[in-house]
Amino acid sequence: MSKSFTITTPIYYVNGAPHIGHAYTSVAADVMARWKRMDGYDVFFLTGTDEHGQKVEQAAIAAGTDPQSFVDAVAADFKAMAIAMNVSFDDFIRTTEPRHLAACAELWQRLQRDGHIYLGAYEGWYATRDEAFYAEDETVLRPDGVRVAPSGAPVDWVTEPSYFFRLSVWQDRLRAFYDANPDFIGPAGRRNEVLSFVRQGLKDLSISRTSFRWGVPVPGDPDHVMYVWWDALVNYISALGYPDQGGAFARFWPADLHLVGKEIIRFHAVFWPAFLMAAGIALPKRVFANGWWTADGEKMSKSVGNVVEPRALAAEFGVDAVRYFLLREVPFGGDGDFSRAGLIRRLNTELANGLGNLAQRTLPQIARNCGAVLPPAGARTVEDEALLAQANGLVAAMRPSIDRQALHEALEEAWKVIRAGNAYIDHHAPWALKTTDPERMATVLRVVVDTLRPVATALRPFMPDSMDRMLDQIGVAPDARDFASLETPLADGLSLPAPQGIFPRFREAVPA
Ligand code: MSP
Repeated sequence: MSKSFTITTPIYYVNGAPHIGHAYTSVAADVMARWKRMDGYDVFFLTGTDEHGQKVEQAAIAAGTDPQSFVDAVAADFKAMAIAMNVSFDDFIRTTEPRHLAACAELWQRLQRDGHIYLGAYEGWYATRDEAFYAEDETVLRPDGVRVAPSGAPVDWVTEPSYFFRLSVWQDRLRAFYDANPDFIGPAGRRNEVLSFVRQGLKDLSISRTSFRWGVPVPGDPDHVMYVWWDALVNYISALGYPDQGGAFARFWPADLHLVGKEIIRFHAVFWPAFLMAAGIALPKRVFANGWWTADGEKMSKSVGNVVEPRALAAEFGVDAVRYFLLREVPFGGDGDFSRAGLIRRLNTELANGLGNLAQRTLPQIARNCGAVLPPAGARTVEDEALLAQANGLVAAMRPSIDRQALHEALEEAWKVIRAGNAYIDHHAPWALKTTDPERMATVLRVVVDTLRPVATALRPFMPDSMDRMLDQIGVAPDARDFASLETPLADGLSLPAPQGIFPRFREAVPA
């Protein structure tokens, strides 16, 4: 059986509409999932929605509806957004589904039975907006008298009976685990942040609430619902059929990669591993945090009105241009700023002029001057071989970057080949060989096709539809587009369909 690869996105809160930040993490995870599938892995790619908690309850009330109808509508919108962005998830978990409720109840009962959960009373600073508690010294009292969390969210002093998870006893084992698994957390800055958080000492974690109803009921104590983060983290195993530890669970757990936003690294790299250790379940292999997007230099917010809607962008520029931009614009793991001008610039220079041109300067010539069939390889020069060696090495050059989540570096590897390909065409000017040396012309055009093929194949995870159109045009069969198929050369004389441009240049309409 082939090797498995399990990758997850965070499950998104349904208290607001999906925006480009949500699309970002999902598209990045999608690239990795598609890459691994093309590299021969049996992939399980999980995404979904986080539907409990006070914020969601409040959002439903504000929308004048009941929580279940509210979450049904917003979850459907998140799913539609993932589909529109071509996110190839294998499962979409919703935390209001029976399978999830059952897994949460079972895990809770086991942990309680084994003494990891106890009933106490909670007092502390709680930010409803973040659904999180903060230590006194993490909060700041603003001059206007409002106490706020590091995120800026106002906090309230809360006292209520609460169940606790004995997080404090896991501190040393967590530290030993981080030491033994230096790649568990990435990037390095986030790892340091987590290590210093754990070094400062871990307090037991309040994991139930009595102040509202919209949550997973605590087994045996109907006054309590589970803390939304406790319930949310369990999604990663409830989707795999937990508490049944055979079947999908046996095949796909532990996860290879939890991809998360930088603001939620603590939940995934501290709390979640501690829950799992307590339950005797294997820990995920890696947690990687992506950075945050601002829009034109400002934090995106509904009140500022600068929220970037991914589907609107995709409708205007094409899904693949948006996917490409998101992953190319910023080193993955760092923060980025979204601007329309930046997107248009990359679309025009890198996609239309760079990659698009490599095909556009070649395929119409084959259609016109080579009878619309793939010309034979012919006798190759040293320069031909050099370009082909670079192109044929592309997947191997990108693979380590993909495995480190350095998606921007993987793209740069592809663009090295694209630039070399365009330089090769400039230099060998096949159009000028048409009358003087048609045989050499044919060889040059074939070298470019043989360069385009690994480039388009390696870029399929990033831009699935456009690269499939490119592979259609060079005669690669739909079932021969994985990495292993690159070993088999294209057949001479293959008839090629009429070429069509893939990335049109975008001209911004100038207001009259
Ligand atoms: N529901 C929790 C996650 C539970 S996971 C067990 C949550 N949801 S969220 O909807 O608020 O955010 C989820 C993720 O969306 C973030 O971690 C991040 O990956 C992504 N982003 C949301 N806004 C973003 C930006 N402005 N920029 C980049 N990514 C951001 O937290």
